Amino acid sequence: MKKYAIIVAAGSGKRMGKLVPKQFLLLKQKPVLLHTLDVFLKAFDDMQIILVVASEYVNDAKTISRSSVSPKKITITVGGETRFHSVKNGLAHVPEDAVVFVHDGVRCLLSEKLIMRCYYAALEKGNAIPSVRPVDSLRVETHNGNVVIDRDKVHIIQTPQTFDSKILKAAFMQGYQESFTDEATVVEEMGERINLVEGEENNIKITRPIDLVIAESILSERL
Ligand code: C5P
Repeated sequence: MKKYAIIVAAGSGKRMGKLVPKQFLLLKQKPVLLHTLDVFLKAFDDMQIILVVASEYVNDAKTISRSSVSPKKITITVGGETRFHSVKNGLAHVPEDAVVFVHDGVRCLLSEKLIMRCYYAALEKGNAIPSVRPVDSLRVETHNGNVVIDRDKVHIIQTPQTFDSKILKAAFMQGYQESFTDEATVVEEMGERINLVEGEENNIKITRPIDLVIAESILSERL
């Protein structure tokens, strides 16, 4: 089956408090986004990448793509107002008969093994959504104040959210809703059951300044 990875990197990254969006910051002298692209390109020889960036970063994205392990396998396209619109733009470049991975450009520490696990699970079940368990105790706000919830019943959702492209394309024909926080919510709205697979502790979303420190440390251990 053909393999397409839509790497979404069109966000502004306001939470990092830096002028440059987090996907373009350097980690071990290499942009965060380049780490992400290379993991996908190495996971499968026939992987094609659709890289979605904001219009003002197309030139930076081209420079980064040229430094990747397989520049010819990367198509760059422009993102939209929300993540939903960015993914929809990326999906326009994906054929019907493929497995499609949708991945946050800022999650650069995932392993090739996770990509493979998601691929085979999506082939079998139509979708594969990686998740991990919380380590902290959890409380939820109610009208009676906050109450503890059983953390064993909670899953923290990661990417690559992986789908049969027919299912994902059909789901993205729906109009945008604010409740669409990721691709799983879009597909679920069509009545599909979400198939959780084991994610990775290291597959963090580089969001806050501390995440860059953690990521540097994880990469140092790997080299
Ligand atoms: O803002 P948040 O961290 O939830 O964004 C998740 C991912 O979606 C990031 O990789 C970001 O670059 C991407 N995104 C996008 N287009 C948008 C908003 C977010 O590609 N309009």
